[in-house]
Amino acid sequence: MTLRKAMDGDLSPGALDVVKTAPAHVRHRALVAWVASIAARTRPARIVWADGSAEEYDRLCAEMVAAGTMRRLNPELRPNSYLACSDPDDVARVEDRTFICCEQEENAGPNNNWMAPEQMRATLAPLFDGCMRGRTMYVVPFSMGPLGSHIAQIGIEISDSPYVVANMRMMTRMGAAVYDVLGEDGAFVPCVHSVGRPLAEGEKDVPWPCNPVKYIVHFPETREIWSFGSGYGGNALLGKKCLALRIASAMGHAEARTGALGWYAEHMLILALTSPQGHKVHVAAAFPSACGKTNLAMLVPPTGFEGWTVSTIGDDIAWIKPHEDGRLYAINPEAGFFGVAPGTSEQSNPNAMATMRRDAIFTNVALTDEGDVWWEGMGPPPAHLIDWQGKDWDPSCGRKAAHPNARFTVSAAQCPSIDAHWDSVAGVPIDAFVFGGRRSSTIPLVTQARSWDEGVYMAATMGSQTTAAQAGAVGVVRRDPFAMLPFCGYHMGDHFEHWLELGRRLSAKGARLPAIFCVNWFHVDGEGRYIWPGFGENMRVLAWMAGRLADTAGGEETALGVSPRYEDLHWTGLEFPKGAFGQITAIRSEEWQRELTQHDELFRQYGQRIPQELLRIRDTLGSRIEKSGKGVQQK
Ligand code: GTP
Ligand code: SPV
Ligand code: MN
Repeated sequence: MTLRKAMDGDLSPGALDVVKTAPAHVRHRALVAWVASIAARTRPARIVWADGSAEEYDRLCAEMVAAGTMRRLNPELRPNSYLACSDPDDVARVEDRTFICCEQEENAGPNNNWMAPEQMRATLAPLFDGCMRGRTMYVVPFSMGPLGSHIAQIGIEISDSPYVVANMRMMTRMGAAVYDVLGEDGAFVPCVHSVGRPLAEGEKDVPWPCNPVKYIVHFPETREIWSFGSGYGGNALLGKKCLALRIASAMGHAEARTGALGWYAEHMLILALTSPQGHKVHVAAAFPSACGKTNLAMLVPPTGFEGWTVSTIGDDIAWIKPHEDGRLYAINPEAGFFGVAPGTSEQSNPNAMATMRRDAIFTNVALTDEGDVWWEGMGPPPAHLIDWQGKDWDPSCGRKAAHPNARFTVSAAQCPSIDAHWDSVAGVPIDAFVFGGRRSSTIPLVTQARSWDEGVYMAATMGSQTTAAQAGAVGVVRRDPFAMLPFCGYHMGDHFEHWLELGRRLSAKGARLPAIFCVNWFHVDGEGRYIWPGFGENMRVLAWMAGRLADTAGGEETALGVSPRYEDLHWTGLEFPKGAFGQITAIRSEEWQRELTQHDELFRQYGQRIPQELLRIRDTLGSRIEKSGKGVQQK
């Protein structure tokens, strides 16, 4: 039942009982009627209206420990922290089960699975019918963005997973105060989530209930989310990818179609970079899942960058809106990090390690004999562990101890590098956008676009190897425009046009648009080793960008844009040979011919919706590559 129907509809006597369970501070009648209608369909054993308090969190965690869903970690080593291990078939986002159900199929575009809304409702009806039997139904009020701010969006997630409630408390502004903001008739995005595993009378629960049948469904026009069958990450924490990216991107675009400027919801980290002279710039950077957003957002400047600071505003999602001064301002709609654990260490990301020292939930990592956590890349492996599947593990067993998409959940406020303005209602003014994929060759270390449109072209044609963050094959290069392939809630061709159009309109007002850069940290040599040291050393590239913004850094024009020569980067503290730099900045004509063919294939998918401007840039780029000649253009 949609919210509209719930508001108008008759409530059955059972549903009226549900209405009576609502706390007095929930004064929104349509909301209560909607909760009643969902309860009538899903038939939970009980309803809990989550208030977001610490007591509630502790109680839920204790219940999950008793149920075997979580284990409490050694409080001396990891205070107030838990380890949850999921079902092995529920470990990542399921892109092939994710749907955008708008009325017209062509508005979902070729990158989204689509089903007609009525057909999808009919498909979901039998699945949700009685799906919460024997379970507790939680009503979880949350705000994406600072509570009560004009840019925030409120959601109510109904879920039968206590793990979801506990995670939502860290990932969003969750709790009873949301009802004060909503008042009697405020707008919210209704989100219904079920693990899809009803319990029969007296049946013992499993530690991680889920269903082999999964549906992650969005109705962008009526702004609803329905998720069935998974309890993991973006499939289940519906404020994140479902609301803050898919629904929000469609909202920002829909607003632009009314004649307003509209806004962007992007898969971007937000960071601030402050020079020793105190000059602060803000960067928003898009990388596909598990390609380094958290690491870059929390970067610690290496030797040679004394006096510089990097501070963190967000690590996954940015909402970017034009301001009256003509600039674009970004907020992080989240309140926590759901970060990739494997590869995170004191060396690669000390700020993340400090953030999760306490009050954390770990999912699918390994357990040490001392009752702490371990994962690949954290440091030397202990002699014995219990792996993420509960099995004994030792370094010679040939299995990974943590799942490659294992995650930690923590509050952003605990991060040592968190920026003083990270939860400011106004957001931070963006000076540069960065787009980067995981590419073993072809894409140079860093290139600055010569114009906004050229930057949009770079973002649109981005490719990246798939990672463990999505179910399916890992390491396959696919086009991932704007790092939004799985997250754009409308037609990707329209997304390109939305970026071009806002750029045109802001320029027409005389605004200076942010610079746009394209980066690639992931070149490998013949033995498959990364050539660029990455992590903190990415600072060298960020500092060059800051120099470009201030007109102090040099560079040279290439076929792709403007790139630094070796001498344009600051090398103090790093031994990085000129030859290696040549390897990761070369533009190889044969590789680029193949690359351009893939751009053509991508654009062809979008038919009439591909902006002409991008086709023009494609042609110019083609002739530039051809002119730059056969073989290698190397610095
Ligand atoms: P989502 O949360 O899935 O959206 O991803 P994210 O982009 O925040 O991913 P995260 O920063 O957690 O990236 C994790 C993976 O990227 C790990 O395997 C890291 O080792 C790797 N990584 C991050 N930065 C670098 C880098 O500069 N160089 C290399 N080679 N790997 C990196
Ligand atoms: C991603 O996959 O991009 C994530 C993790 O940020 S999840 O929330 O599971 O989608
Ligand atoms: Mn992400």
